[in-house]
Amino acid sequence: MDGVQQWAEGVSYAPCPPDEFCGRYGERERLRALFPRAAEHGQAVMISGPPGIGKSSLLAWLAYDLQDRPDGPRSPVIRAEVFEPPRMIFFEFRKLLYDLQMRAATGEFQEVLERGGIREAAGYTDSLLERYGAPVEPVGLLPKTGDEIVGVFSRAPDVGYDRVRDTFGDLLRELGRLMGASGRIIAVLLDDAHRAPYPDSRLLRDTVQDLPPGVLFAFTVRDDPGYDDRDIPHLRLQGMRGHDIQELGQRRFDLAISDAPAARLEETAGDPFSLVACFNALRRRNLAPSAENIEALLKEEEDPAGLAVATLPRYWQTWARD
Ligand SMILES: Nc1ncnc2c1ncn2[C@@H]1O[C@H](COP(=O)(O)OP(=O)(O)OP(=O)(O)O)[C@@H](O)[C@H]1O
Ligand SMILES: [Mg+2]
Repeated sequence: MDGVQQWAEGVSYAPCPPDEFCGRYGERERLRALFPRAAEHGQAVMISGPPGIGKSSLLAWLAYDLQDRPDGPRSPVIRAEVFEPPRMIFFEFRKLLYDLQMRAATGEFQEVLERGGIREAAGYTDSLLERYGAPVEPVGLLPKTGDEIVGVFSRAPDVGYDRVRDTFGDLLRELGRLMGASGRIIAVLLDDAHRAPYPDSRLLRDTVQDLPPGVLFAFTVRDDPGYDDRDIPHLRLQGMRGHDIQELGQRRFDLAISDAPAARLEETAGDPFSLVACFNALRRRNLAPSAENIEALLKEEEDPAGLAVATLPRYWQTWARD
């Protein structure tokens, strides 16, 4: 979450570590059901929802499930997060490539990434994206005829957008093909894709519309109706249900939440960020998770972010409120 950093005395507001991830069983099954489809014909999935609902945490769980779970598919994952404002075009795609190259360099998945034309395909894609990587003024980005891309400070490109898209597609195709040979898929995960500026957003849309076999492409967006017309599976995250809330209380806070307060939380503060804020407050003040205590906490601050700040140690509070 923006503005609230990890804090040593409570559960962090950072995305949840996969081994502490609670609930969302339906969503997890829906994601797993996509693995065979990704192997067969390539598959995209969009995870959406409001701030604090757990999009990044679900993506981190997906990465773990695909790549690290001991009895899991052991499929390589490359990932990137979109930050704003990058002032570089195709920045996210370059980060994805960088992640891929780092993995090959450190020996992870080396047997796959070293084979075939992957090295060349990655190198070529990289240098093509690099040509567009000069800092640009977003307001000065002008799509020109023939879909060339011009930034105010970038060199005039001699390669059109179509070539960039095709090259990135070729790289994914090659990766998917090699993974297929070893009975696995490769997953590309992009967090906060709603922040991607043009033309990155266009490349994202074009890429997910035309994925090759062997590739799963999962991305998160804050609620964004602009993506609704996509013909891809869409997981819209909602607040957690009572039993998920109880699991979260138990696993992450060692708090036994009984049915009535869990139902009340489901109604009023069911997003995981608010739950973490509320349980941190209970723990920090040494309060039992009774219906009355939870009710009093919920009344105290209108906005769960306020509750989150109120439960930070004092020296962090001044900083966070600024
Ligand atoms: N399933 C879960 N189990 C346990 N904790 C969770 C779960 N999902 C999210 N959390 C916790 O809730 C908080 C918000 O989660 P997260 O950062 O994933 O939300 P987000 O939707 O990505 O938010 P933003 O839109 O701000 O990026 C974090 O403290 C995270 O650890
Ligand atoms: Mg997030």
